[in-house]
Amino acid sequence: MITAMENNTLRETVYAFNNSDLVASYDADMDIWHPNRVKMASIVCEILPFDRTEHLRFLDLGTGTGYLSHKIIETFPYAKIVAIDAAALMIERAKVRLNNCLDHVTFHISTFQDLPKKMDTLSPVDAVVSSLALHHLYREEKLTLLKYVRSILKLHGWFVNCDVFKASDAVVEARFRRLHYQGIQERTRKVRHEEKSLDEISSALSDKEKKDGDNLLLLTDDLQIIAEAGFRTAECFWKEYREAVYGGIK
Ligand SMILES: C[S@@+](CC[C@H](N)C(=O)[O-])C[C@H]1O[C@@H](n2cnc3c(N)ncnc32)[C@H](O)[C@@H]1O
Repeated sequence: MITAMENNTLRETVYAFNNSDLVASYDADMDIWHPNRVKMASIVCEILPFDRTEHLRFLDLGTGTGYLSHKIIETFPYAKIVAIDAAALMIERAKVRLNNCLDHVTFHISTFQDLPKKMDTLSPVDAVVSSLALHHLYREEKLTLLKYVRSILKLHGWFVNCDVFKASDAVVEARFRRLHYQGIQERTRKVRHEEKSLDEISSALSDKEKKDGDNLLLLTDDLQIIAEAGFRTAECFWKEYREAVYGGIK
């Protein structure tokens, strides 16, 4: 159940990425904060059992600057993608990245919460993908979204999500976070030639998590949501510390 206070926080954070400073540095920041975005996108493209020559239909939830959509089109050159995001400025940046293949992508500005109402007549898709976007949702919202996702998938269609999670044990969570901060510290030193303490990194990230409205679940909860939404299978395909690629088949 979402409380009124949580709902207000949500309304502010849904558009947290519609910020020109954030968008300008987004991809460079992701290389520092989540370098596994590259690995995770390649897992998505590898696990999907489709042929390069197929005329596939995809939905990309929280497309942001279009990183995953771009990888999908590189892997499946005849694919068409419906790309959703609440942040118009992120979509503008995605259009630049996808400039050479804009005829393959239809962009829609929408929140995930509004999607079932706004796009209830979408033709069935072969796969719904997402990268680092769904951890902004509360459990109930994710379940509603996943039921919608299942409803628009073709029979045997795939849902594949790359995301971040919390650990079930506080000691393991602290260890995962520490390793994450150390990685950020090394990459900041190497790429930006800047020295940041682990405390600075920890407090910057916790501010960012609040601003972005992060709501991390356990990976087991996310798999459970897929099962509850009625998928025939829920599976983790890849995991490293706090990040995983998981999904289900209709
Ligand atoms: C961390 S970015 C990930 C972008 C991209 N998928 C990537 O891998 O780089 C999260 C994206 O999800 C979008 N987003 C977050 N919450 C949303 C919501 N409730 N509805 C629609 N989009 C949302 C943000 O606007 C942002 O573009």
